[in-house]
Amino acid sequence: MWGKEIERVLISREEIAARLEDLAADIAGDMGGSELLVIGVLKGAVVFLADLIRKLTFPVEIDFLAVSSYGKSSVSSGVVRITKDLDYDITGKKILLVEDIVDTGLTLSYLLGHLQARQPELLKVCVLLDKPERRQVPVQVDYAGFAIPDEFVVGYGLDYAGRYRNLPDICVLKREVYQSSRS
Ligand code: PRP
Repeated sequence: MWGKEIERVLISREEIAARLEDLAADIAGDMGGSELLVIGVLKGAVVFLADLIRKLTFPVEIDFLAVSSYGKSSVSSGVVRITKDLDYDITGKKILLVEDIVDTGLTLSYLLGHLQARQPELLKVCVLLDKPERRQVPVQVDYAGFAIPDEFVVGYGLDYAGRYRNLPDICVLKREVYQSSRS
């Protein structure tokens, strides 16, 4: 049904849902009971954010940032540009930044600097997927869903060439599909 480009399911929708319960409990324990602004990084974090906030048992507000990396194909270039900034003024606010994946860490590192400059009261980071072996710069990650190997994953918000974001499971893309764009 999802075509011939998918090799296998890496993390099923059931595993994701179960992990989200744990993440939400940790976040509520640390940041519940006070006003919280949850910031998603477009577009990959949309599905994760939508599910995560509905596991939180206190009211939150949401906002979004969009970024683009120059020269990016399947590999981050490290040069980040904000293409849509926040609607909210975050000065003095409690913030949870939500990302689908941290890979080299360059995007998150840039975004944290960008947000910290606005002097929020508290800034925490929640990522669904972490590829620790790919890290080029150390970054703050307060809540991480799953550590995964260095494979090209799609689904649950993550895309290949714009496709597969609506795939409910996190799946490994066949190597032959993306290797030409990486070389
Ligand atoms: C992905 C992801 C992070 C970034 C992580 O975004 O959402 O923003 O790459 O990579 P890094 O740690 O190497 O910087 P992508 O550019 O694929 O955009 P998208 O969210 O719109 O899919």
